[in-house]
Amino acid sequence: MILAVDGPTASGKGTLAKALAAHFGLPFLDTGLLYRAVGRQVQLHQGNPDNAADALAGCAFPDSLLDDPMLRSEEVGGIASRVSIHPMVRAALNKRQVDFANQPGGALLDGRDIGTVIAPHADVKLFITAPAEVRARRRHTEMTRQGISTEFANILADIRARDERDTGRADAPLKPAEDALLLDTGDLTIGDAVQAAIALVESRL
Ligand code: C5P
Repeated sequence: MILAVDGPTASGKGTLAKALAAHFGLPFLDTGLLYRAVGRQVQLHQGNPDNAADALAGCAFPDSLLDDPMLRSEEVGGIASRVSIHPMVRAALNKRQVDFANQPGGALLDGRDIGTVIAPHADVKLFITAPAEVRARRRHTEMTRQGISTEFANILADIRARDERDTGRADAPLKPAEDALLLDTGDLTIGDAVQAAIALVESRL
């Protein structure tokens, strides 16, 4: 079984994807981490993420970089969304994702274009959403808990900018596949969202 989980930043898709992978016993790939590794590599080499050549050079990252805790930072997330616009960067990362999706026994991948580009043949495609304000509130709460002080308004502006870049790019824009099942987690607790996601997957098996 191949499960595709897509959605915008802070929609809860990462948490849901991990829970679904555990529930259905599937190997799991967080594809955002690959784009973040490219972003981090560009940052470490002081490249310009908007420049295609610099972004492509960032694709030659060592696997060890995937364990770098800095990958999870807001700053690297923002750079990741800028490098991910370049078609050559997407092409450089696609094979690894396609191979992961098609391994014997199935897989679960989460990202932006899993149901549309990486695994259009997936058995079940989920598209996870939540209003931008709710996503910004979640991120703000999470950062405050980590002791990082930030303005809510800045986080909301950042999330909106990231959404615009992800949905507006020409190559593999963030959008639900035609046969995707939508789940809005805006009013749901994590536990309820996990139960709802499991029920949606089971409805298609
Ligand atoms: O999901 P995450 O926030 O870690 O992804 C970081 C950025 O990487 C996203 O904003 C998006 O621009 C890019 N990305 C992508 N395609 C994917 C996964 C992530 O373009 N499959």
